[in-house]
Amino acid sequence: MHRVPPAVSLLRVSKSYGRASTEQHVLVNVDLTIKRGEFIVVLGRSGSGKSTLLNLLGAMDRPTSGHIQIDGTDISGLEEGKRTKFRRTALGFIFQAYNLIPTLSVLENVQLPLALNGIFDDAPALQLLEDLALAHKANAWAEDLSGGEQQRVAIARALVHSPSLILADEPTGNLDIETGREIIHLIDDLARRSGQTLIMATHSQEVIGYADRVLTIRDRKLVEV
Ligand SMILES: Nc1ncnc2c1ncn2[C@@H]1O[C@H](COP(=O)(O)OP(=O)(O)OP(=O)(O)O)[C@@H](O)[C@H]1O
Ligand SMILES: [Mg+2]
Repeated sequence: MHRVPPAVSLLRVSKSYGRASTEQHVLVNVDLTIKRGEFIVVLGRSGSGKSTLLNLLGAMDRPTSGHIQIDGTDISGLEEGKRTKFRRTALGFIFQAYNLIPTLSVLENVQLPLALNGIFDDAPALQLLEDLALAHKANAWAEDLSGGEQQRVAIARALVHSPSLILADEPTGNLDIETGREIIHLIDDLARRSGQTLIMATHSQEVIGYADRVLTIRDRKLVEV
C-alpha cells in the first residue's frame, strides 16, 4: 500500500535573523504535521513569527536549520530554480495588502500564475471570477476595485493554478468586519471544495470557527490552542 505523505511537515525548524550579537531567534525547533485538506489557523501576537512561518512554508525564505516538506518534497533542500518552479505550481498566496498588479486588468491578474507556468487559457480564471461574483469586473483595472473586491481577485489569483497548499497572511487585515467575514467564507469554501490545504495567519478570533486546528506561536514554539 502507498503511504500518502502529509501535506506539510516541519521537522525541528528554526529561524533566526541577523548574526552574532544581534541575532534574533524567532522560531526554535518547531515540529508540525498537517494533513491534506486541513484548514489551519495560526495566531500569535504581533512580532511572534506568523509571517516568518508562512514565508518558510511558501519557500520564500529558508530555515536556519531543520526541514520542511510539502507533499513529500523537501523544499529546504531545493536549489533556487526548482524552488521558484515549486512555488509557481504547488503554492497559492493571499496577502493582507492584496498585491495585485495595478496596470493589469482583473482577468490578467488572475491569469498571471498560469501564464508564468506557460498556460494561456482564460477558462480557469473566468470560472473563478464567476465563483467570486466578479465576472462583471474582468476587464476593469485592478486598482479601480474596492478593497474587498481586490481581495476576491487575489483569492482567484491564488487558486487559478490549483495549488495543493494555500498560504494566507492576514487576508482580512485591511477589511471591515463584514467584508472580512465574507472573504474567509469564500476562501474556506473554495479550498474545501478542491480538498486544498489552507494555512492562515490572522489576528481575527472569528476565523477560528472555520478552522480544523488552531495553533499559536508562543515563546518561539508552535503550540495547539
Ligand atoms: N527579514 C527580516 N530581517 C530581520 N528580522 C526580521 C525579518 N522578518 C521578520 N523579522 C523579525 O522577526 C520577528 C517576527 O516577525 P514576523 O513578521 O514573522 O511577525 P508576525 O507574527 O507576522 O507579526 P504581525 O502580526 O505584526 O504581522 C519580528 O521581531 C521581526 O522584526
Ligand atoms: Mg505578519
